[in-house]
Amino acid sequence: MAIIISPSILGGSFSNMEKTILEINKSKAEYIHFDVMDGDFVPNLTFGPQFISDVRSYSNKVFDVHLMINRVQKFVDDYIKAGSDIISFHIEIEDDIKSLISKIKKNDIKCGIAIKPKTPWNEIKPYLDSIDQVIIMTVEPGFGGQVFMSDQVTKIKNISDYIKSRDLNVKIEIDGGVNYETGKTCKEAGANILVAGSFLFKQEDLIKATNSLFESMN
Ligand code: DX5
Ligand code: ZN
Repeated sequence: MAIIISPSILGGSFSNMEKTILEINKSKAEYIHFDVMDGDFVPNLTFGPQFISDVRSYSNKVFDVHLMINRVQKFVDDYIKAGSDIISFHIEIEDDIKSLISKIKKNDIKCGIAIKPKTPWNEIKPYLDSIDQVIIMTVEPGFGGQVFMSDQVTKIKNISDYIKSRDLNVKIEIDGGVNYETGKTCKEAGANILVAGSFLFKQEDLIKATNSLFESMN
């Protein structure tokens, strides 16, 4: 199966968002990655559900919503209503993970669990048979433009081996520091989806940059 590219709009300018989305629409990216941050789970703030629902009206891409927030139970309905296609939250939060999974899936939305670099991979093991994707963080969440942590490659392999050994239908998404080289390493370790922010946006032409990352992975 083809590797999916999920451009992270955090890498672009918030003042240029319409242009960014229209360019992603024209590219070979299948997803758009939305980084929601609450200034509490991570030391940064971005946007909320209103922004996602506004963007929904001019893109048919798969909306891949990454919640880096503590109070998911309280706010998840708003992200469901906003038009998310996939909602991922972090395993490190205190809310009840099982009830969040069932709430998201009851609404016909795909559910993902994200895991920070220092969290052992087996913490997500009990949930792998009931979710659609895992987001393996290859930087500390909070900011774009950080360097890929290559010590996370073993985690990718371990999760990929486990998924294969149980024949589970779970995709592996990699988030943080993805470029041609690190993307290739992740693909070889078992990744299915690559989030890319600064690597795409620092290039002159977002459409070309996205297409060439896609082509180099497929
Ligand atoms: C980090 C975010 C990432 C980020 C990736 O907390 O979850 O999605 O935007 O950006 P790059 O590709 O620049 O590391
Ligand atoms: Zn993200």
